[in-house]
Order: sequence, then structure tokens, then C-alpha cells
Amino acid sequence: MHYIAETRSNIPHDLVSVSDYAEHAKQHIGHDIYEYIAGGGADQLTLRRNRQALDNIQLLPKMLKDCTQGSSALHFMGESLRHPIILAPVAFQKLVHPQGEIATAQAASSLETTMVVSNLASHKLEDIAQNLDSGKWFQLYFQESREFTLSLVKRAEAAGYTKLMVTVDTSLHGIRNRAQRAGFVLPEGVEAINLRDRPPLPRKTLSKQQSIVFQGMMTEAPTWEDIAWLQQNSSLDIIIKGIMHPADALKAKQIGVAGIVVSNHGGRALDSIPSAIELLPKIRKSLGPDYPIIVDGAIERGTDIYKAIALGANTVMVGRPQLYALAVAGALGVAHMLRVLREELEVTMAMMGTPTIGDITQDTIYRGEHR
Ligand SMILES: Cc1cc2nc3c(=O)[nH]c(=O)nc-3n(C[C@H](O)[C@H](O)[C@H](O)COP(=O)(O)O)c2cc1C
Repeated sequence: MHYIAETRSNIPHDLVSVSDYAEHAKQHIGHDIYEYIAGGGADQLTLRRNRQALDNIQLLPKMLKDCTQGSSALHFMGESLRHPIILAPVAFQKLVHPQGEIATAQAASSLETTMVVSNLASHKLEDIAQNLDSGKWFQLYFQESREFTLSLVKRAEAAGYTKLMVTVDTSLHGIRNRAQRAGFVLPEGVEAINLRDRPPLPRKTLSKQQSIVFQGMMTEAPTWEDIAWLQQNSSLDIIIKGIMHPADALKAKQIGVAGIVVSNHGGRALDSIPSAIELLPKIRKSLGPDYPIIVDGAIERGTDIYKAIALGANTVMVGRPQLYALAVAGALGVAHMLRVLREELEVTMAMMGTPTIGDITQDTIYRGEHR
């Protein structure tokens, strides 16, 4: 077990909430890198909406409940989670700290947190797995070559990862104007090391009538057939990340996908789409009470996690804050950030009079009237 010394004194004293890390991170990383991380797609309408939608939800507490047997632990998809907070797959963590994903894995271990290791990690997936004593999940982007895609899956299986999270919302990179304006490019020494042996893409010559988008980039994008192929070729549970449309959510369930992440990629993919939290109640209703649903986007407070669970999520994922915390204080920063989130969630649960995760139901949300 990796132990991160609980030396609160190593964390700046004014760093008390998750969003404080974003401010502090600016002093530790270059402007271009900060813009790449913080930015959303195009005009950032979706990015802003992610935060706004959570802020617009109000809670309605009940008093005088005995909370002394409370706990934020839960069972989820056959695993025991110490709390409903998962580290979202986030690429290229060496961008902000030399130890990158290894430090994040150590922090996850010390806070008993499931980490989803990105397909675009800057350390080898096997090395990260060795530093991860808590939940190990692997995020997959389909590659042009099915053979190479399968080799990644087999490596993940051999390294002890238990779930495959297949991201489907960024076959195209999206319009990342903020990163472009800041002149962001991957610096030397940071690469998607797990894709090193990827076979070179076949050279395509497009005719004038063809589109660089449809006949170019989209030829690599997966379809539902690829998901079915993956189900046949991997023993791991498959979770699809990036579902927004209720019809897609239903289809995932119908074809036997183990779970979904309702997500707009932190507002970094298509701009002008709603936040995941807004779609969540409808998706939960159509999938039924038992189907595994994860949600992400702007989760920064214990109350955000609470709201997501009340509206139908089983767990949440946290993206950007892990990079900010890593930039400020390495593994210790990520561990502290996770502890702040967990404690805020537990404070919220206690103050709401709902001491277990199972107690957090839709009627804890204030609807603007007494019921
Ligand atoms: C810098 C950065 C890199 C990301 N890399 C990946 C990735 O490699 N794979 C993936 O599925 N999602 C990736 N995401 C999206 C996150 O998994 C997650 O959906 C999103 O960050 C959640 O929103 P939040 O940052 O507001 O918490 C990335 C997000 C950021 C900010």
C-alpha cells in the first residue's frame, strides 16, 4: 500500500476547496498548458453550462436524523468503492508533473479511489497498474487497426485492469480554439507512450469531392458494430463513456454493455450540448434503477456529487481537478483534493439527513414547492 503522508502543512494554507487548485495551478504550469486543460470546445457554451446546471440545483435537507452509522461507501458493478468518486481518464499527466500518472495512482491508492487510466497516458499502463492498489480501470479509444486496439485491451487485461471504459464522443478532436489561441502543442518528452507501436495510418488521398472530415477523420471512428466486436473479444466489463442521447443510453443497455458514462467530455467535444446532469433524470428513468450510470462534468464540491447521485447517478468522475492538484503538489495534492471531496460529500450527507448513499433519492432535490 502506498502511503501518502498526511502532511497538511505541505499544502498552501489557503487551498481549502477543489476549485482553489485551479487558481494555484496557474503558478505551476505554463499558460499554454493551463489553457489546454481548462478550455472547452469552441465558444465554451457547454463548458459553462456544466457548472451552471449544477449551481442551479437546490437541495432540501431533513433534520434530526441519526447519522452515526453513516458511510459514503457503496457497491458498484461488482466492486466495493470507498466513496462514489472516480478519477476520470485524463491524458498526458506528465504535462503538469514529472511523475504524472504514477503520482495520481499513488494518491488514488491512498484514498481508496478507482482510477480510470487514459489510453493517452504518458506512462506505461503496466507501470501505472503497479502503483495502483485501488480500483484499476482502463479507458480505450478505438484505433484504426482492430489488431492494435485488441493488443491494448489484452495488455490492460494482463495488467489487472477490471473494466474497459470506451470513449465514443471524441473520434474528432472537437474545435479547441482556446488551446489553439494559446499555441498549445505537446512538449517534447510527453507522449502517448502506450500507442508507440501503433501501425502507421494508411496514406489516404482524397478527391476534391471528398471531405477531410467524413472520408478522412471519421473513417477511424467506431460504430455500434465495433462495440459488439469488443464485447466478443474481451473478458472485461465494458462501459461506454460519452453517451448523451437517451436513445443511445437505452441501446447500450439493450446490447448488454455493462454501464455508461453520461458525459460531454468536460465541455471539450461538441459545443452547444447540454450538461450531463440535465439529461440524467430522463436517462435513469428509461434505464431503470439498477443499470450502472456514471456522470461527469464540473464536479468540484461534495454538493455536486450529492446532486448527481440524487438525480440518478451511481458515482461521479472528476477530470480537471486531478491535473490542477497534481501540478500544485504531486501525489499529495491529488490525495488532498480527493479527501476534500469525500469529506465535503460526507458533510453534505450528514447535513441532509441522508447518512448512506442509498438514502440519497430524488426527493432530496428542492423543486420550488413544498411537497
Ligand atoms: C486535459 C484533459 C484530458 C482528457 N483526456 C481524456 C482522455 O484521454 N480520455 C477520455 O475519455 N477523456 C478525457 N478527458 C475527459 C475527462 O475524462 C472527463 O470526461 C472530463 O474532464 C470531466 O469534466 P471535468 O474536467 O469538468 O471534471 C480529458 C479531459 C481533460 C480536461
